[in-house]
Amino acid sequence: MINEIIANYKTVTPADVKVWYEVANVSEFPKNGGVALSYKGLQIAIFNFSRRDEWYATQNLCPHKKQMILSRGMIGSEGEEPKVACPFHKKTFSLKSGKNLNGSECDLATYPVKVDDGMVYVGFSE
Ligand code: FES
Repeated sequence: MINEIIANYKTVTPADVKVWYEVANVSEFPKNGGVALSYKGLQIAIFNFSRRDEWYATQNLCPHKKQMILSRGMIGSEGEEPKVACPFHKKTFSLKSGKNLNGSECDLATYPVKVDDGMVYVGFSE
C-alpha cells in the first residue's frame, strides 16, 4: 500500500509540465520554510528558500519511514546544494535533484515551481 503511494510521486521536469497549479501568494509562505499542498491525492512540500531567492517543490513524504513531514523540515545549503533535512531522523535531500544526500535510500520526486506576478505555481504533468 505504502509502496503504491510512493510510486505516485514522480519527478516532473519543466518540459513535462502540463498544468501550472496556482498555490498562493508569495506573502503566504514563511521565509526559509515550507508549506504542504494537496494536489490530486499527492502531498507536495513547497519551499520558499528566501535566503537564496529560490523556490523548490518535492514530495512531502519522507521515504525513510514514510512520514508526511518534509514541508516542516529545516532547509539549508551543503556547499552549493540546497537541501532539506527531515525532522524525524535528519536525513537530508537535495531540493534540486531530490537525491538523498545520506546514502542509498530512495530519492525524492521534485516538481518545478514558478512565481508569476506574486503568485506561486507548481508544475504537474497531469
Ligand atoms: S522519517 Fe524522515 S528521516 Fe526518518
